[in-house]
Amino acid sequence: MHERDLAESFFSLYKSLPSIFRAPGRVNLIGEHTDYNEGFVLPCAIGFQTWVAIAPRDDHKLLIQSQNFPGKFEFDVRSLPEKRLGNWCDYVLGAASTLQKAGQPIEGANLLIKGEVPIGSGLSSSASVEVASALAFLHQNNRSLPMPEVARICREAENNFVGARVGIMDQFVSCLGQAGHALLLDCRSLESKMIPFPDEVSLVICNTMVKHAIAGGEYNARREECDEAVRLLSAYYGGIRALRDVSPEQLQARSSDLPSTIYQRALHVVSENQRVKDAVEALSRGDVDEVGRLMRESHRSLRDLFKVSSVELDVMVEAAEGLPGYRGGRMTGGGFGGCTVNLVDASEADSFAKQIAVRYQQKTGIQPDVYICFPADGAAAAQKSHSLTL
Ligand code: GLA
Repeated sequence: MHERDLAESFFSLYKSLPSIFRAPGRVNLIGEHTDYNEGFVLPCAIGFQTWVAIAPRDDHKLLIQSQNFPGKFEFDVRSLPEKRLGNWCDYVLGAASTLQKAGQPIEGANLLIKGEVPIGSGLSSSASVEVASALAFLHQNNRSLPMPEVARICREAENNFVGARVGIMDQFVSCLGQAGHALLLDCRSLESKMIPFPDEVSLVICNTMVKHAIAGGEYNARREECDEAVRLLSAYYGGIRALRDVSPEQLQARSSDLPSTIYQRALHVVSENQRVKDAVEALSRGDVDEVGRLMRESHRSLRDLFKVSSVELDVMVEAAEGLPGYRGGRMTGGGFGGCTVNLVDASEADSFAKQIAVRYQQKTGIQPDVYICFPADGAAAAQKSHSLTL
C-alpha cells in the first residue's frame, strides 16, 4: 500500500518508475548507552518504516524530495557536501556522501522519501532513513554490500556527516532485525545472535511527545564522560580499551579514585552490560518477569546514574506500574525525551495502552501516542520498478 502510493507520487513528480527500499525504526529492550562503550545491546526492529524510492537520471544531479517535509534539494554527485546542511535531507545525503567516500559510485538519481517512524521520539527515524537510502543508492549503482557493512557506513554517516557521535545499534538492527526476535549485538565484534521473543508478549511503546535531540550536547557529553572513565581506569588496569573491558569488581575497587560523576556513568555502563546478558538468559528460559525486572533496574540506572531520563519519561515509567499485564519497562533510546518500552501480556496490550495514556495525560497534561508493536524484519527491497503497474 505504502509502496504503491509512493510509486504513484514518484511517477507524478519525476515521470519514471522507481525501485523502492524500506528500513525500519527500532526499540531497544535493554542495553542503553552501551553501544559506544563497545558493550552489548538487545534491540528489536519495529513495524514503522522509512521508504526510499529511487530512479536513475541521465545527468549528474541528485534530486531529493520527501512526502513528509517540504523542499526540493538538488546536488551534483561530483561535488556532494561533506557535512550536514541542517535539513531533513542530511540523512539521505549523508548516506550518499559516505558511500562515495567508501569507494562506492553514486550516479545521478531522483529520490522520494516517505517516513512513518515518529521523528525525535528515540525510535531511530534517522537510522531508518540512512539505511533505506544506502540500500537505494547501492541498488541504483548495481552494488551490494553485506548488511553489517551497510550498518557501519550508515553509522559513519551519522558520526561524520550529521555530527552525532552515536554507536552502531540503531543502524545495525535496522539492517538485520528479524521478525519475532530481539537482536543481541556485541558492539565490539559486531557478532549478533537472534533471541526469540515470546509470542504472548507485546512491546508497548509510549511516546512522551517530548522530542529528544541527539545532535544536542548531552549525548556527546556522556560519551566524553565514558572516555574519561576509560582514561582514568586504564592507569590502574592495563588493556582497558573501553568500559566493556571493566568488570564490576574492578570499577568498585577504584570508586574513590574517580570523580563521582565519572564513577556513576561508568557504573551504569558496566552494570547495564551485565543486565543485557542476564536479560538474554531470562528470555531463553521464558522468564518474562525477570526481563521486566531488569528493565526497571535499567531505568533506575539511566535516571540516577547516567542521568539521561526526563520528568516525562519517569512519569510514563511510573504510570505503567500496577496496570494489568505489565511485566516491566523503561525509557528506551538516547533519552532526554522520546519513548518508554513496556513488556505487556499481548491479551492486555490494548487496555494497557488506553490506561497508561489516561494516567500520563492526567499527570502531565500531554496526550501521548502509544504503539503496540512486535519485533519486525530489518531493511529490504520493498518493490522493484518492473513489477509496478500504475
Ligand atoms: C541513540 C544512539 C545509539 C545508542 C542509544 C543509547 O539511540 O543512536 O547509538 O547510543 O542512543 O543506547
